[in-house]
Amino acid sequence: MIVFVTTFGQKGGVAKTCTSIHLAAHWANAGRSVVLVDADRNRSATAYASRGLLPFAVVPMEAAAKATRSADIVVTDGQASSNEEELKNLVEGSDFIVLPTTAQSRSIELTVEMACMLNKFDIPYAALIVKADTRKKSSIQIAREILQGFDIEVLRTEIPLLNAFENAETEGVTVDRAVTKNGRSDRRRMSGFYAYSKACDEIELLMPHRKVIPMPIGWNVSRLEDRCA
Ligand SMILES: Nc1ncnc2c1ncn2[C@@H]1O[C@H](COP(=O)(O)OP(=O)(O)O)[C@@H](O)[C@H]1O
Ligand SMILES: [Mg+2]
Repeated sequence: MIVFVTTFGQKGGVAKTCTSIHLAAHWANAGRSVVLVDADRNRSATAYASRGLLPFAVVPMEAAAKATRSADIVVTDGQASSNEEELKNLVEGSDFIVLPTTAQSRSIELTVEMACMLNKFDIPYAALIVKADTRKKSSIQIAREILQGFDIEVLRTEIPLLNAFENAETEGVTVDRAVTKNGRSDRRRMSGFYAYSKACDEIELLMPHRKVIPMPIGWNVSRLEDRCA
């Protein structure tokens, strides 16, 4: 069964694309067949992937039907849209929705608004605190409490604010492969990567009936009839 995970929410660089890329990368590295569907007209996920250095395919929405035929997991980088019809379609096409949110008050407000809209549907969703400045622990805690006060599920994992994410995007790689401007491996790159891996584990637990079980390395996951005798 294919699992559809959608990242969406507010406009303005809240790390939707970065989140989609790293969720997809975690599952691809775990041996799953992952396709990232770029549903944003800006095509930023497509641009990110253009160097061909990501461990999964990125396809535009229009090509999604065929490209996702043999996928286990489809991650959709959603459009930051205020068009109700568009949002409804995205929601109904998802098994789980991730709402990246920063600790800034405007971002929290927008996530609360989005959650009110999502409550009309029977699709599980959770906020993910991104760009978390570890020097500002109390504002992150307040953000978490405000969201939870509106009955919004908030993933325990927070994604740290790291230059490594921007450097990785410039190079077209995931954050674990980020290098600094002078060409050295970024010291904090793995903390960014592991944070997204932990977020994936939490998402799987919140989708109990569609658990994305990691495939042991070396397993042949192709359909029986497609394999050579
Ligand atoms: N955790 C992070 N720390 C630092 N920069 C980040 C982080 N996540 C994303 N970014 C950067 O923020 C910018 C906006 O992210 P992006 O994923 O493109 O946002 P959106 O898709 O919501 O517009 C990009 O330059 C990206 O590299
Ligand atoms: Mg984007």
